[in-house]
Amino acid sequence: MSHLRILLVLLVLVFTPALSELCNPEDKQILLRIKKELGNPSNLSSWLPTTDCCGNWVGVSCATHTQPNRVNVLDLSDLHLRKPYLIPPSITDLPYLQYLYITNSDNIVGTLPPTFTKLTHLRRLHIRFTNVSGHIPDFLSQMKSLEYILLSNSKFSGTLPTWLPSLPKLTGISIEGNRISGAIPDSFGSFSKVFKTMTLTGNRLTGKIPATLGKLDLEIVDLSDNMLEGDASMLFGSKKHTQLIHLTNNKFSFDFGKVGLSKTLKIIEVSNNRLYGTLPKGLLSLNDLRWLNVSHNNLCGEIPQGGGLKYLHESSYAHNKCLCGSPLPSCKRF
Ligand SMILES: *[C@@H]1O[C@H](CO)[C@@H](O)[C@H](O)[C@H]1NC(C)=O
Ligand SMILES: *[C@@H]1O[C@H](CO)[C@@H](O)[C@H](O)[C@H]1NC(C)=O
Ligand SMILES: *[C@@H]1O[C@H](CO)[C@@H](O)[C@H](O)[C@H]1NC(C)=O
Repeated sequence: MSHLRILLVLLVLVFTPALSELCNPEDKQILLRIKKELGNPSNLSSWLPTTDCCGNWVGVSCATHTQPNRVNVLDLSDLHLRKPYLIPPSITDLPYLQYLYITNSDNIVGTLPPTFTKLTHLRRLHIRFTNVSGHIPDFLSQMKSLEYILLSNSKFSGTLPTWLPSLPKLTGISIEGNRISGAIPDSFGSFSKVFKTMTLTGNRLTGKIPATLGKLDLEIVDLSDNMLEGDASMLFGSKKHTQLIHLTNNKFSFDFGKVGLSKTLKIIEVSNNRLYGTLPKGLLSLNDLRWLNVSHNNLCGEIPQGGGLKYLHESSYAHNKCLCGSPLPSCKRF
């Protein structure tokens, strides 16, 4: 090989990465500002002006189809920040962002900035294990592209926003482990057909749950660890497609023997409430049922024997008024 050819090959090798960079230059500048707004954490050391943000940068992905090579995923997780920082304001300048994850960072504090409404393509917003606080802001109601809102294990307070069902594409909410108080709004019965997940566990919710919730066909409903009361039987229903119902640690009170059971149920957790009546008749015919806990209620009658139930521990049934039969002591006959 001539020296010239070797030189050419070297030139190609040196300049190819720069020439083939996919990262949009504006997105790159915005990301570098975000890094600065977080105090240049060492976890973002892969975010370098000289490298391609599409592919080489931790927590950054770019779109391939609709807006090719525009940043559409930003995952700011496990950053190990050394002091408190606000949610970096420049995030809202990424015009094609679809997925935003801010998780496992005690040192992310403050409230959600109103400029979030600029993120008109945002589909998923996850804020989890942070110290972000404040009410769930009303300006989120303008973000019609939102498909999932997860605000968990942070310091959110105030009440549940009544406008949530007005987000047409919303498939679920996980608002858990915060300080949300008050009642579940009546409007929650009007979520669209695509809405399948409602997780509100570990808050300070009180009062009765609205009867309108009976209109929903939820796959997952978790209201556990609140102070809710009254009837929750409308969450059940034989024509629904529910897989998980978790109502543990509330003050719900209704006749459990009368609920309809969807064939798709896998997990039923209702312990530590004030349920009365018997166990529902259809339990034995639930082929997918993997977990049942009805302990600490006021239930009575004989535990159905067989099916998926035969492996359950007695603590799944303990502390009721007069449940009996295996794995509890046998029923006394008169
Ligand atoms: C982030 O930084 C911490 C502490 O410096 C380190 O333990 C962790 O592995 C880093 N994570 C990533 C994804 O670089
Ligand atoms: C975040 O919350 C934790 C737990 O409540 C607290 O110990 C910590 O000091 C908070 N950090 C900041 C930066 O506010
Ligand atoms: C059922 O729930 C009770 C109270 O919440 C708990 O103590 C018990 O361990 C649970 N049983 C099973 C099998 O999970």
